Amino acid sequence: MSGPNTSYDPVEVAALDPAQLEQAVTDALAAFDAARTLDELKAARAAHQGDKSPLALANREIGALPPSAKAEAGKRVGQARGKVGQALKERQAQLEAERDERILVEEAVDVTLPTDRQPLGRRHPVELMAQRVADLLVGMGWEIAEGPEIEAEWFNFDALNFDEDHPARQMQDTFYIAPEDSGLVLRTHTSPVQSRSLLERGVPLYVGAIGRVYRTDDLDATHMPAFHQIEGIAVDEGITMAHLKGTLDRLATELFGEGIITRLRPSFFPFTEPSAEMDLRCFVCRGADPDCRACSGTGWIEWGGCGMVNRNVLTAAGVDPDRYSGFAFGMGIDRALMFRSGVSDMRELIEGDVRFDAQFGLEV
Ligand code: PHE
Repeated sequence: MSGPNTSYDPVEVAALDPAQLEQAVTDALAAFDAARTLDELKAARAAHQGDKSPLALANREIGALPPSAKAEAGKRVGQARGKVGQALKERQAQLEAERDERILVEEAVDVTLPTDRQPLGRRHPVELMAQRVADLLVGMGWEIAEGPEIEAEWFNFDALNFDEDHPARQMQDTFYIAPEDSGLVLRTHTSPVQSRSLLERGVPLYVGAIGRVYRTDDLDATHMPAFHQIEGIAVDEGITMAHLKGTLDRLATELFGEGIITRLRPSFFPFTEPSAEMDLRCFVCRGADPDCRACSGTGWIEWGGCGMVNRNVLTAAGVDPDRYSGFAFGMGIDRALMFRSGVSDMRELIEGDVRFDAQFGLEV
């Protein structure tokens, strides 16, 4: 058995050859330098520092050397590995810094840019106004009632004292539901809720009704075949027209602001006697401009009808007209939005464009 070879020179082991080691270091440094990204550097690291790299191989060879040769070979390999490790660390830091800088530029957020968030839905201005009126009425102790949009002709006309030959009963004004003798119409106003409420709830009665109504109008900037009304009816002992005026003034102030001037102008409705139109002082010219387009120079804007509930309506609903009296009013919501918020084309109210609704969206 031969003894340890004391004169063994590690240089003889190929992997430990100083020139080869140097080459391995040079190759590694060049590969690290050539790596343009962290991924490429990772690959270069596996090739030049990984388990199968020339340096790892050299490191393993040291173990097989005789003790006397280990120290020198170890030092040489250690230095080579140290150089490669250091170069790797530096290149890694460099590439990381480059990446961070790139991310800062590429992923920068300009908080002043317009947002591209999905717009949220908004409450429709008609709905907002209806809610305001409902809140006001409830605040005065009234109840809110609803009636059907497909209404019995009897409630829409007969119970409200319309004559057999009243023009509103004609086909060109009212949508009738087929067949012809169905006795049903699309309600032309919210007033049938007056009779329904009197019959269902009895007196004393303080009820508001808000909803959609239909007339055979062609669609244009100021007419819609479907629009919205606010109805109010109060029946009790001792109700006078002063109560009507007070209630309407309150409603007008709530919807159009403090200081709004109103007036009642004699009119006619089959279901109220006396009857009146409620006008609002023109928002635009306040009565000062004979050429004003908003009020056609009259100084007043018509808002809706009202009056003292006709005795015949009370009687038809089983209420004693000698003991009870009441007032009623019916106002257009869409019209109110037009002159209150400057909606110049009524069709905007039904087109469902969220950009239109959003203008009213912050209002509660
Ligand atoms: N219903 C009437 C209309 O649509 C308005 C009105 C309601 C008038 C209540 C008087 C009383 O024009």
